[in-house]
Formats: sequence, structure tokens, C-alpha cells
Amino acid sequence: METQSITIRRPDDWHLHLRDGEMLKAVAPYTARQFARAIIMPNLTPPVTTVAAAVAYRERIQAAAGAHFTPLMTRYLTDQASADELERGHANGAWVAAKLYPAGATTNSASGVIDVRNIYPSLERMQAIGMPLLVHGEVTDPEIDIFDREAVFIDRVLTGLVRDFPGLKIVLEHITTTDAAQFVAGAPATVAATITPQHLHLNRNALFAGGLRPHAYCLPVLKREAHRLAVRAAAVSGSPKFFLGTDSAPHLREAKESGCGCAGIFNAPYALESYLTVFEQEGELDRFEAFASEHGANFYGLPLNEGRIALERAEVEVAEWLPAAGSKLAPFHAGERLRWQLAS
Ligand code: NCD
Ligand code: ZN
Repeated sequence: METQSITIRRPDDWHLHLRDGEMLKAVAPYTARQFARAIIMPNLTPPVTTVAAAVAYRERIQAAAGAHFTPLMTRYLTDQASADELERGHANGAWVAAKLYPAGATTNSASGVIDVRNIYPSLERMQAIGMPLLVHGEVTDPEIDIFDREAVFIDRVLTGLVRDFPGLKIVLEHITTTDAAQFVAGAPATVAATITPQHLHLNRNALFAGGLRPHAYCLPVLKREAHRLAVRAAAVSGSPKFFLGTDSAPHLREAKESGCGCAGIFNAPYALESYLTVFEQEGELDRFEAFASEHGANFYGLPLNEGRIALERAEVEVAEWLPAAGSKLAPFHAGERLRWQLAS
């Protein structure tokens, strides 16, 4: 008989963009409804590079999301990042991890890292104090085909980082390829990966289905079907190296539907329902709780959440648009029917 409901330990989102100002106020409640904690990406303009900026941003998030939600802040790494400041913020709880954006790789990454050698002193310190490195794993070399940028990053950069920092915890964020799934599975226990719902549901055909589809555009860009299947297999494998990270990345309609549209999919409103659908399709419902609520916390060395949530069988139609910041956002799965619903 078909499963009618599933109750799991309250989950966390290990990769999230909440933005700031009116957008933050509009999107934060969707995440707080589903997740106890989230790793907050620091790619604001200007990026979050100081203890003071991280603390102030955390307070704005807390005000928008409510007291029952815990934002876990991250520091944006630049070529000039000071190891002392990194350690100070980690010691006083301003941030739990640091994010490596190769300069120019994605939204608001212009002040990112030009050469990973420049941040070796910071990485030495992070390794020493047990602070995880979160990686946007794409090279920015314009000579490299956009669909190959993750695989080439693994060869050119990540392999060396894992070799040179054997004690550093590294999360390869939002993996999209067979190459990444295999690399992480075969790497030491210090290396893990987050997986988004869109990379489990969609392949690159979604970008061109009957015309150009800006709402399916995110970075790393969707890949071919064989890669999607490898990422799905990793997600439902039960391996503690793979865990939930939505990469929910809201951009208003005008910014998406443009001659130069922004990358990012806003998946926060139905994130759990979306992931659960994948685990059900794969016949691995029993592995959903560990992926959503255990592997990430264990990797970060944080306690598991105490509360529980339930998802129930229900036909739910996802809205085409949700209001935000004087305009609107297209949620992931807009206009589709999902067969699960978070119980209130
Ligand atoms: C993210 C954003 O908009 O901030 N966009 C995206 O497509 N994922 C940045 C990122 O995580 O690469
Ligand atoms: Zn992201």
C-alpha cells in the first residue's frame, strides 16, 4: 500500500540564499516553516566578509524568520581574507563556515577568490580550528565549456585542496555531475556534498522546453540526463557524505525574465515535498530522514534537531507566482502538482 504519511526529525537546509531587505522578509518564512536551521550564503552586495556584517545580517534574518529558526552564518572568502578575522568570527559564533566563490563564477561573486593559492593561509587556519570550507565548484575560465566547469574544477582545484588540506572539512556545494558524485563518494570522510531539488528533478532539456525557460536557469547549470541520474543515486544512496542543501536563490520576475537573466531557482516554498518526491520515486523513502535531518548536522559536528515534522499524502497545486518585494517570484514546480504536503 502507498505510504500516506512520514514523520522525520526536523530537517536543516545546508545551502540557502535569503538576500536582504524586502526580499529577505518575503522569503525567510518559507524556509523557517520547513527547516530548523540553514547555512546562509554570504553573497550579498557587498558580501559578508566581516564579523560585524555577519552579526548584523543574522539579526535581520532572525527578525524576518522568527525565533524558532537558527541561521548559521558563513563568511565570504576573498583573496585578502585575514586568517585572524576568520578565527575570531568562528570562535565567537558569528559564522560556522567560509564560502569559496571563484571570482565571477555566479551571482555576486565578483569579489571572490582569483587564485585558491591566495587563500592557503586562511585554509590552514580553518583546518586547524575545524571550520568547514564550502565550495562553489566551477572554474571561471571562459575557454571551458559551461557544462564542463564543475568537472574541470574538480581536476584543477578540488583534488589539490583535498590533498593539501587532509584535515579540512570541505563541502562541494550543489553537485550536478557524475564526476562530482564519484569524486565525493571516493574522497576521504572530510569531503561531502550538498544536493539541490532542481538537480534531482531536471536535466538541461528543461532550459529549452518549447522555448527559452529562464526559471529553470541556475548555477551550476542543469546537466544531461546521465548526470541527473548519478546525482539522484548519490542522494538516495544512504551515504553520509550527501545531504540536503536547497540552494534556494530568489530573483524577482524582472531579473529572471530578461535579456540577461539571473541564475537561481526559488525552491524554498516546497523544498521538502520536492525532495521527498524523489526519494519516493527511487523507492528509498526510508533514507529520506538521514539525508534531510542527520548527515549534514553530523558532518558539521552540530547536534541533531529534537523536533519532528510530518509530511502527508495530498494533491497540492504549486502557485504560478508568489508575491515578494513589490513584484513576484516563480517557485520551483510552479503550476505543477505535488503529491506530498507538509502537515501544519
Ligand atoms: C545563486 C544566487 O543567485 O545567489 N544562484 C544560483 O543559480 N545558484 C548563487 C549560487 O549559488 O551559485
Ligand atoms: Zn548557492
